[in-house]
Amino acid sequence: MASTGETRPKVFVTRSDIPQIGLDLLKAECDVTVWEQPSPVPRTELLRNIVGKDALFCTLCDKIDSDVLEKASPSLKVIGTMSVGYDHIDVGGCKAQGIRVGYTPDVLTDATAELTMALLLATTRRLFEANKEVYNGGWKSWAPTWMCGQGLKGSTVGIVGFGRIGQEVAKRIVPFKPSRILYTGRTERKSEAAEVNAEYVNFDILLKESDVVVVLCALSPETVNMFNEESFAKMKKSAVFINASRGAVVDQKALYEALRNGVITSAGLDVTTPEPLPVDDPLTKLSNIVILPHIGSADLRTRIEMSRITACNILQGIIGTQMIAEV
Ligand code: NDP
Ligand code: DGY
Repeated sequence: MASTGETRPKVFVTRSDIPQIGLDLLKAECDVTVWEQPSPVPRTELLRNIVGKDALFCTLCDKIDSDVLEKASPSLKVIGTMSVGYDHIDVGGCKAQGIRVGYTPDVLTDATAELTMALLLATTRRLFEANKEVYNGGWKSWAPTWMCGQGLKGSTVGIVGFGRIGQEVAKRIVPFKPSRILYTGRTERKSEAAEVNAEYVNFDILLKESDVVVVLCALSPETVNMFNEESFAKMKKSAVFINASRGAVVDQKALYEALRNGVITSAGLDVTTPEPLPVDDPLTKLSNIVILPHIGSADLRTRIEMSRITACNILQGIIGTQMIAEV
């Protein structure tokens, strides 16, 4: 990229434990400063290190807001986030400053759909509750109704956010023989829905008619707290609620009350507010919830590819060519 004698672009990478391929690609072409900890860079260090950089390699743990963009100005040209979600980035502010933003759609779709299915089955069939009984002496004998959950066969599954991952989840649900698959979103997706025989309905109908509600929409001002006391009240008492999108689409206090008071039956979350969820959070005290630590895309090959794509997006952004994926 830069011939001998030319200044190499300066890149800041916000943590040390990203898969090596991304670091190697960047180091071949750029002067790379890495926050040398396998944990998110502290805010003060991010604000200090971004000064004078041409590019930033970040993750969803780094809030890239107007303060960061102000410090980054005028040198920053490109941000690569190792994620498909970009709600942690002030994209409007980036556009205003002419900063290009790269992200990693598609590559993690299958891994995340797979994990969402695992969470869904673990929640509907009470796997973690049942597993504990093996070790705590609660398993006395096979019993006719003990640890019974609800199978997917014959059920109505409602998907909120029928995008890349939502559609892949729908495809994986079909072999379980549901009676209906419903979806909602801002746009009707007729051809994709036809592949899985899914019906486009409004949010309220989806809440009212679904046995399992699966959330896979992007986080935006429109979707913040879209699952609140009112929405849980519209769901069936037997409903199972699954969220693998972002914690902030759920009013967590309302979810806690809904689970505690039997407004809905159970929930499975891969994402929470905050992350990590404090170990003494009220949700952790409930037995009818499965909580995972945001591992949707945590398949090693997927993460390696996410690292590579993020680095390529950055390098392409720096030289001003088309990125693999740009927001
Ligand atoms: P897509 O952009 O393909 O899909 C997002 C979907 O959200 C779109 O179908 C969009 O529908 C829908 N949406 C937006 N606004 C609303 C709304 N108001 N009501 C209902 N639906 C809405 O993204 P992906 O499928 O690739 O990823 C989805 C999200 O999943 C990411 O943004 C990220 O937050 C999360 N994610 C979580 C992971 C994890 O580890 N748990 C891993 C990967 C992603 P429309 O087009 O109609 O607006
Ligand atoms: C994303 O990419 O947005 C996920 O939350 C992590 O892979």
